[in-house]
Amino acid sequence: MTERWEALEQACKSCRECSLWETRKNVVFGVGRQDAEVLFIGEGPGANEDEQGEPFVGRAGHLLDDMLAIIGLTRNDVYIANIVKCRPPHNRDPLGVEQDACIGWLRRQTALLRPKLIVCLGRIAAMKIIRPDFRISQEHGQWFERSGVQMMAVYHPAALLRDPQRRPEAFDDFKSLQAKIREVCERTEVNGL
Ligand code: URA
Repeated sequence: MTERWEALEQACKSCRECSLWETRKNVVFGVGRQDAEVLFIGEGPGANEDEQGEPFVGRAGHLLDDMLAIIGLTRNDVYIANIVKCRPPHNRDPLGVEQDACIGWLRRQTALLRPKLIVCLGRIAAMKIIRPDFRISQEHGQWFERSGVQMMAVYHPAALLRDPQRRPEAFDDFKSLQAKIREVCERTEVNGL
């Protein structure tokens, strides 16, 4: 198991499938438990993540940690990855060609993990993972099922930093996640509110 994760990470770290490799400092592969039942998927690394090689370590990441803490989880209880593993310059949205070039890595991570639940962080991840015409403001917090895996999208933590009025909705979505974990996960312990 660990062997296959290591091989995958090594291969991913030398990827040059799209032009983002030219400007990256680090490939941001993913972090968390290799047997996590819950997989969080963001959009792509920002400056801090590119610098440190770990997803969600900037301000948005701290807010994600806080949201996890509300339901009694830490980032070590779950797995966190992104649609694209290298930082798009100037934090622009990852292009379709970049997402298509990169998505195979996430598919292989998902195949190793076999998560019970997937949580898309924001619109870009939801459009790639749930449905291309996903509307985050209307469909966040709703559960969808694909091949036996339950998935939902929540507002991206960076969007919550920009627009704090959306935080109560995000709180409700995390409560729904907590309930779903209790319903379908066997090893993931949630507590808190
Ligand atoms: N935003 C993302 O979507 N992913 C990260 O890793 C950091 C910020």
